[in-house]
Amino acid sequence: MTCSLSSPAADMASKAQTAPSWKTFVFYILISFLTSFSVFTVLRGASKARVDKICTKVETPTMYYTGESDSKKTPRGTTSTIEGELVILLWTWPFGQRFPLDQCARIHGISGCTFTVDRSWYSRADAVILHHRDVCSSKTQLPQEPRPFNQRWVWFNLESPRHSPNLHFMDNLINLTLNYRRDSDIFSPYGLVERTKSPQDFRIPNKTKLVAWAVSNWDPTLTRVAYYNQLKNHLNIDMYGGRNRPLPPGKTISTISQYKFYLAFENSLNQDYITEKLWHNSLLSGTLPVVLGPTRENYELFLPSDAFIHVNDFPSAKELAAYLHFLDANDEQYGRYFEWRKRLQPIGYTDWTIHYCKACQALRQQLNYKTIPSIAKWYK
Ligand SMILES: *[C@@H]1O[C@H](CO)[C@@H](O)[C@H](O)[C@H]1NC(C)=O
Ligand SMILES: *[C@@H]1O[C@H](CO)[C@@H](O)[C@H](O)[C@H]1NC(C)=O
Repeated sequence: MTCSLSSPAADMASKAQTAPSWKTFVFYILISFLTSFSVFTVLRGASKARVDKICTKVETPTMYYTGESDSKKTPRGTTSTIEGELVILLWTWPFGQRFPLDQCARIHGISGCTFTVDRSWYSRADAVILHHRDVCSSKTQLPQEPRPFNQRWVWFNLESPRHSPNLHFMDNLINLTLNYRRDSDIFSPYGLVERTKSPQDFRIPNKTKLVAWAVSNWDPTLTRVAYYNQLKNHLNIDMYGGRNRPLPPGKTISTISQYKFYLAFENSLNQDYITEKLWHNSLLSGTLPVVLGPTRENYELFLPSDAFIHVNDFPSAKELAAYLHFLDANDEQYGRYFEWRKRLQPIGYTDWTIHYCKACQALRQQLNYKTIPSIAKWYK
């Protein structure tokens, strides 16, 4: 914006002041026009750049680490379908991340779908899965050819509303939502708890450290940063990720498991938005999560009330810190937060596969006609 103020036109305008005349007046008009035009252009460019960035950047690169073997297999578009199977077209690889498309039966016992990423299959696809963040830069990223009769479009998104721009692109186009929210057409959370077949002997990993927090996206406007700034006055917190200590994907669990507590702080506070920060980083590593996200009641729909500490359980960060120090000194009290593990086992989905398999399952069952007029109205 400063560029437009020191433009040659502005210099000329100041010289023109010495000879006041109608020319000066015309100059002023011209200058004001040029200035507002450049300011407008700069602002427009800035907001467009922001949307483009958020539409293409992976916010949480740790989310789908593919530590588990299969990633080396080259995923292919399929070349043949089995009679009677639904053909499901992935309009894009989610965030460009590839994974094997033929694992639903083997891993999740869900069969009856042939997945492909080959867009030449569009006209014979029974369903198309649109991963929001890969199609949100421009409406032209959506399929442009007429939709074949009976083809359903599935809107797939695991990002919070704050990180899901341009929802209005989807108006009147989508038949089913695939999302972490419980009221989605196809509910696919980041994780869940499963009953164990027999009582388990869960051992808390040996702890030598107190509190860890891994954060890749340091945005000072987020609630979690404000809370952290309070908390760190009363407690030593070891920071990982971003510009802090490195936390390579393969080392996440072993590193965090040395800590008694993990700050599972979500980047946005939204209904059901409980991510891998809880399921993977905390629970899989046998570390007690301190959560900041939706309400305690909301968390309790996903896991037992004594499986986590909620920041809202305390009037301030100071009291929370005091309680963590208390638990640190009382192994028996600390251990009570792991009792539930005798009967329940947490599962964190660190792979894309489950979400697509769930789409397959739902598409085979839900056959009613439906169009969602506005995802934007619902997804906030
Ligand atoms: C934890 O520490 C105990 C006692 O020092 C030791 O016997 C045990 O092997 C350790 N467990 C793990 C998982 O390292
Ligand atoms: C899916 O949505 C489209 C677009 O609104 C609509 O024309 C079509 O009838 C819907 N299909 C089903 C199976 O609900």
